[in-house]
Amino acid sequence: MSVPKTRVAVVFGGRSTEHAISCVSAGSVLAHLDRERFEVVPVGITIDGAWVLGADDPTALRIRDRELPSVARTGAAVALPGDPTRGGLLHLESERAGEVFSGVDVVFPVLHGAYGEDGTIQGLLELAGVPYVGAGVLASAAAMDKEFSKKLLAAEGLPAGDLVVLRPDDATLDDRQRERLGLPVFVKPARAGSSVGISRVTGWADLDGAIALARRNDPKVLVEAAVAGREIECGVLEFPDGRVEASLPAEIRIVGDGVDWYDFDAKYLNDVCEFDIPAKLNDELTERLRAMAVAAFRALNCQGLARVDFFVTDGGALVINEINTMPGFTPISMYPRMWAVTGVDYPTLLGTLIDTAIARGTGLR
Ligand SMILES: Nc1ncnc2c1ncn2[C@@H]1O[C@H](COP(=O)(O)OP(=O)(O)O)[C@@H](O)[C@H]1O
Ligand SMILES: [Mg+2]
Repeated sequence: MSVPKTRVAVVFGGRSTEHAISCVSAGSVLAHLDRERFEVVPVGITIDGAWVLGADDPTALRIRDRELPSVARTGAAVALPGDPTRGGLLHLESERAGEVFSGVDVVFPVLHGAYGEDGTIQGLLELAGVPYVGAGVLASAAAMDKEFSKKLLAAEGLPAGDLVVLRPDDATLDDRQRERLGLPVFVKPARAGSSVGISRVTGWADLDGAIALARRNDPKVLVEAAVAGREIECGVLEFPDGRVEASLPAEIRIVGDGVDWYDFDAKYLNDVCEFDIPAKLNDELTERLRAMAVAAFRALNCQGLARVDFFVTDGGALVINEINTMPGFTPISMYPRMWAVTGVDYPTLLGTLIDTAIARGTGLR
């Protein structure tokens, strides 16, 4: 007798500036899910927020000749009502409108940024009573917001760098703040990702332009003191029995001429980075970093997975830059590659994430 397959809705695209990166991540997830165990329902969300059935063709979800993929409105329209008695995804159009298209055992929201990684879709899934991969509402929202994630980390005694929060009414930094932070500073939207809207400012004359750029993505802007150090990332994974483990860390080294930080083009388009996976760090530092990654995961009450990004200073001090609750899953993304070198291959990683989501279920936990 064959075991019934678990039905996984892979949800991707979405309304954030990271729409395209989510598509590329989803392409990789679709290509690596174990089809012996899982029946996959790909659901794309267009940039304006429509849910459509996606084609299960991972090759359509790639960057080609610097051309970024997106979700087209061509698939049949579906919706997941926040009503657990409805039985899953419903058809929205045609003579079948309102009928159940498919029940869903678990959702894998391969969404980055706003309306995906920030607690909003997690809230819908809680309402719908459908288990989902990754952090819950509070942790997703807290990790997405770089102001609050740093406050929560600091409350647990974890090191986050110095920063000033510019709320919508705050025009710019005053002189004392400039003196305190020093140059260079990083100016960033409080809630974004993939380096979108971020500038490295080396002269105060450029500050206001950088704030305006960041504000195009988020009315709340952070200005951070630059941390001089190596960029090291670490994957955290929760197993179905509740165990939380950290992967071996990895280092990103920028080697291209004239590139000083890990901006969008460096991340996805230009070949200017080298990756050491695992990072070349001594054992003591590696273990300290892994322990701190798990501590950061717990400080924000994360679940399922997270990628914790650090700066490591010359003196060996650790500074947490950010926590991503739905890190990239593209073929070049660090999270799956760090787990691969730690002994968890990509299909096993996806299976673990889904098993953990189902073991946890929804509701207070
Ligand atoms: N305070 C900082 N000091 C040094 N480099 C920084 C700092 N903040 C950001 N960066 C650089 O900018 C990149 C993107 O910033 P990050 O806060 O990680 O935003 P995102 O969420 O878009 O990835 C980092 O990977 C790093 O290269
Ligand atoms: Mg980052």
